[in-house]
Amino acid sequence: MKMMNEVICGDALEQLQLLDDNCIDITVTSPPYNKKRSTFGWLVQTNRYADYNDSLPEDKYQEWQLAIINELFRVTKPGGSLFYNHKLRWSHGELYHPVSWIAKSEWTFRQEIIWDRSIAANIRGWRFYQIDERIYWLYKPIDGHLVGKELESRHAKMSSIWKMKPVKRSPDHPAPFPLILAARAIYSMPKSSEQVVVADPFCGTGTTLVAAKLLGHNYFGVDVSEQYVELARNRITNSESELEDIKKEMSKHVVKDPYKARKKRGTVNWPFAPKSLDGSQEAVSENSVNKSNRDDKPIAKEDEQTSRPSSKR
Ligand SMILES: C[S@@+](CC[C@H](N)C(=O)[O-])C[C@H]1O[C@@H](n2cnc3c(N)ncnc32)[C@H](O)[C@@H]1O
Repeated sequence: MKMMNEVICGDALEQLQLLDDNCIDITVTSPPYNKKRSTFGWLVQTNRYADYNDSLPEDKYQEWQLAIINELFRVTKPGGSLFYNHKLRWSHGELYHPVSWIAKSEWTFRQEIIWDRSIAANIRGWRFYQIDERIYWLYKPIDGHLVGKELESRHAKMSSIWKMKPVKRSPDHPAPFPLILAARAIYSMPKSSEQVVVADPFCGTGTTLVAAKLLGHNYFGVDVSEQYVELARNRITNSESELEDIKKEMSKHVVKDPYKARKKRGTVNWPFAPKSLDGSQEAVSENSVNKSNRDDKPIAKEDEQTSRPSSKR
């Protein structure tokens, strides 16, 4: 791939259009949210990008985002994924939901992940404090099969709610996401043992690219701001200093006693199991698990085993 392990200063859509089909494995990205800062209070207004004013008419913004994610679909290899971080926004009482343009894209919708930031960016009281953002896991099917590979059993303890504090405010950039967010997305992919190509067309401080490098992968990043591109390049050069954070995140993916082994031993427990007479939780045999149709493995056994042809590409 041309431009491998590079951070380019340019427009995301234009740079993606220069790439060949099917050359990226995983993208983790967070675009500007079209915050139209002039209409918001002081907290949002003081939080500006260096070279982008983040204020488009909403229909133009959504068209742009749709074009970006469709271009990402083209450059992604079949079986590849896009983790698209966005949030629910309201303007004059109207909800702008990212799914409204994601649903028009060519991607297969794999999962909606809630990023629990535990802190609100806006503290006015028209709604309950919005402490969440979303991460949309979108998937490019192989030969029209929509389901894709099952996550490895090391993920048995991971849920669709990712509790991660936002990065502390810094003068360098108003909105980086946490390194562990990008690392979790990349490390969770079944292909994580191979060396893959990870992209971020709105790379800002280079968080995704640093995570990719520290996890042993190749990367490709774009940002419209020369200042952020310099920041990202320096951060990548000095990325070893962030290795401990990556190791800590990787250690969370290790399940010492996986479901398959417990099921084989007949010691599958779940919090709602009846207590035995001595108060400890009952071990449940494989048969009783099947009979009661309950399963402590969080990845549900839906009809996901049967893949059906995609109407999409
Ligand atoms: C939410 S920030 C991404 C932050 C990044 N995830 C990080 O951790 O640092 C969005 C980025 O998009 C960049 N941007 C805005 N318009 C762009 C465009 N047309 N093409 C490429 N980058 C753009 C901004 O400069 C900003 O750094």
